[in-house]
Amino acid sequence: MKLFRKSAKEPERAELDLSRVPAHIGVIMDGNGRWARRKGLPRSVGHKAGADNLEAICDYCGSIGVKALTVYAFSTENWSRPQSEIDALMELLYGYLLTVEEKFKNRSMKLKISGDTAPLSDKIKKAIVHAEEVTASGDGMVLNIALNYGGRSEIARAARLAAEDVKSGKISPEDIDEKYLGGLMYTADLPEVDLIIRPSGEKRLSNFLLWQAAYAEFWYSDICWPDFKEKDMERAIIDFQSRDRRFGNV
Ligand code: FPP
Repeated sequence: MKLFRKSAKEPERAELDLSRVPAHIGVIMDGNGRWARRKGLPRSVGHKAGADNLEAICDYCGSIGVKALTVYAFSTENWSRPQSEIDALMELLYGYLLTVEEKFKNRSMKLKISGDTAPLSDKIKKAIVHAEEVTASGDGMVLNIALNYGGRSEIARAARLAAEDVKSGKISPEDIDEKYLGGLMYTADLPEVDLIIRPSGEKRLSNFLLWQAAYAEFWYSDICWPDFKEKDMERAIIDFQSRDRRFGNV
């Protein structure tokens, strides 16, 4: 487990409390394009740097006891990007999926993909099935990759599934409550989302985990994702631990 001690120059700040680590963290991996452009590099290089950074962040989160990390890799809106960028992102994801078996084994990590995989290429669909299968018994942290994911489309999908359950007589309309709908979200098997992090300076959810964000704490940072390191994650978690979460109570 990695703890970042303050240096002599740094002002006094609270330390991470390992007994109150958020169970589920969501990350909008934003700012890859800007990171690359500032270095005079193509945007795809920024996405590669973002994917590399995810590995280090996974290791850190796993080491401090985070149970699930959901990362926004490709949104339902990202199809409107130039085809060359879409292709580069898909190749990056495909390459990543091929490495999952090897990488996750030692870490006992489990891979989950959340989103509509139907429009993805056959080779990516196959790689997803394989990566999920070979990591299914992992009892460490779950890395949940939101891929062709949108919060609104996830809620619409849940409504559709509920309507089908009514139609087939499995339930009656009165049975549809928050618990029931929550069970139809991609994240039904994961703990509640405690903390959502958005690097790169933007302060919006951009259709990420809309249902799950109901009581999540939010943290943003001006640092672009490829430069958002373990110490920045630790800072976000320490701040999360200082929040007074009342869940609507007083
Ligand atoms: C948004 O930032 C980021 C994305 C749309 C892609 C995120 C994908 C990765 C980090 C890599 C793929 C993931 C895995 C799991 C291998 P942006 O690049 O649009 O940033 P900008 O606002 O600076 O343009």
